[in-house]
Amino acid sequence: MDRQRMIEEILELKAKKNAVLLVHNYQRSEIQDLADHLGDSLGLSRIAAETDAEIIVFCGVKFMAETAKILAPDKKVLLPQQAAGCPMAGMATAEDLRLLKAKYPEAMVISYVNSSAEVKAETDVCCTSANAVTVVKNVKTNQIIFVPDKNLAAYVQRFTDKEIIPWEGYCYVHDQYTAEEVKRAKAAHPDAVLMVHPECPPDVIDLADEVFSTSGMVKFAKQNEAAVFLVGTEEGMLYRLQKENPEKTFLSVGSAKMCRGMKMTRLEDVHRSLLEEQFEIQLSPDIIGRARGALERMLYYV
Ligand code: 13P
Ligand code: SF4
Repeated sequence: MDRQRMIEEILELKAKKNAVLLVHNYQRSEIQDLADHLGDSLGLSRIAAETDAEIIVFCGVKFMAETAKILAPDKKVLLPQQAAGCPMAGMATAEDLRLLKAKYPEAMVISYVNSSAEVKAETDVCCTSANAVTVVKNVKTNQIIFVPDKNLAAYVQRFTDKEIIPWEGYCYVHDQYTAEEVKRAKAAHPDAVLMVHPECPPDVIDLADEVFSTSGMVKFAKQNEAAVFLVGTEEGMLYRLQKENPEKTFLSVGSAKMCRGMKMTRLEDVHRSLLEEQFEIQLSPDIIGRARGALERMLYYV
């Protein structure tokens, strides 16, 4: 089937089945162009919780589709590429988290949404990169187990005196950034604004002008008057930034970094997903019930 026909069929199937296409900012450009909603983890979670659609097709990685299922358990949630995962989410297990909780019985567990549904079920409050600092500040407890990103934990620690016990996980995409390549990029573009994602290592964050979630970057780029932006996050982000701000220039800091899981979803997968209603996210009612509180506290109370 040619590409144009495939796009038309995707649109027809979406309308016929009352499906909504939620797309993360790191997805391939042709998937971003088809999105009903394009966003970061926080924005897409909110939409999943509120949508009237019967089917949610989540173009992102598995933890994002699981989050949508937890927040909308009566909907059919589809992940077009079964193998699209986030290695960082796999770095924390519920069993290891239970052991750490036993060691720090007074601590509150705050989990980054980049975690499995089972880990969320052991969590007090979830957070995303957009609200991690606010969540940590707002919870009543002074001792926090922060799962699974050590770089995001170190970033949050800059804004609070609370004791943060970090999990030793990291994002292999953002952890590749080095202070050396950032310094080289800044020297080559001295007038550019440097914005990075908080999953980057601390010495990279030290050099940044701004630190944002992916949708935070979108908002900032629109409002800021700089002509050139150096961007320290997954390369899919550059497509949206450039498309929405054609008069500005967006450059990757150093070499472009790609998330394999995010890039697995192709037009063919979205088409098949809608046609065959695959691959459906299945979670037990027990896990949904226990994980839901942590996500709802993030969305509604903080
Ligand atoms: P955002 O919530 O900022 O979009 O980040 C998600 C993610 O996976 C970053 O690597
Ligand atoms: Fe996970 Fe990193 Fe990919 Fe985000 S960019 S989905 S944190 S591996």
